[in-house]
Amino acid sequence: MSRIKVHDKYFVPYLSEKEILERIKVVAAQINADYSGTKPLFIAILNGSFMFAADLFKNICTDAEICFIKLASYKGTKTSGQVVTAIGLDMDIKDRHVIITEDIVDTGRTLSYFIPQLINQQPASLKVAVLLHKPDAKVFEVPVDYCCFTIPNKFVVGYGLDYDGLGRNLSSIYQLEI
Ligand code: IMP
Ligand code: MG
Repeated sequence: MSRIKVHDKYFVPYLSEKEILERIKVVAAQINADYSGTKPLFIAILNGSFMFAADLFKNICTDAEICFIKLASYKGTKTSGQVVTAIGLDMDIKDRHVIITEDIVDTGRTLSYFIPQLINQQPASLKVAVLLHKPDAKVFEVPVDYCCFTIPNKFVVGYGLDYDGLGRNLSSIYQLEI
């Protein structure tokens, strides 16, 4: 792995595919233990979480369901400050054990917009599983129950995460070069 260019910016290797998959297996094992005997519903937030959701879900061994919604708040490397629901929830979550599956909690804006909407629908429980968490970027408080990696406040691409639409197909994660 070496330095790559996405649009006008350079990125350097940060988390390898192997490291990511190993860590996801550990987090999946925690979820398997916590939800044993229940039938949780994973709600994956598109676009960024599609790879994480797939690899996490493959390692879930209790009966489980998954569905997808699409929220967006980013333009380029800066958050646009507004969250829009592009594809909404088509499942009844009342009395279900729900696990939100998100690529990254950055400012927390996206989940602080979405979580109250879910709570209104009275799930039996609601937890958040994220691939990446940037605590130093926090603007809105968001509970992060399962986290694969806590990372510094630097822009990353790959493994589903994009920079202006590109970079999602990278199988590992790269960090913006300073
Ligand atoms: P938040 O609403 O600020 O927490 O940001 C959440 C969304 O912004 C994520 O679902 C990502 O799609 C996007 N995002 C935040 N940080 C990054 C990053 O470093 N790289 C790529 N996308 C990011
Ligand atoms: Mg994005």
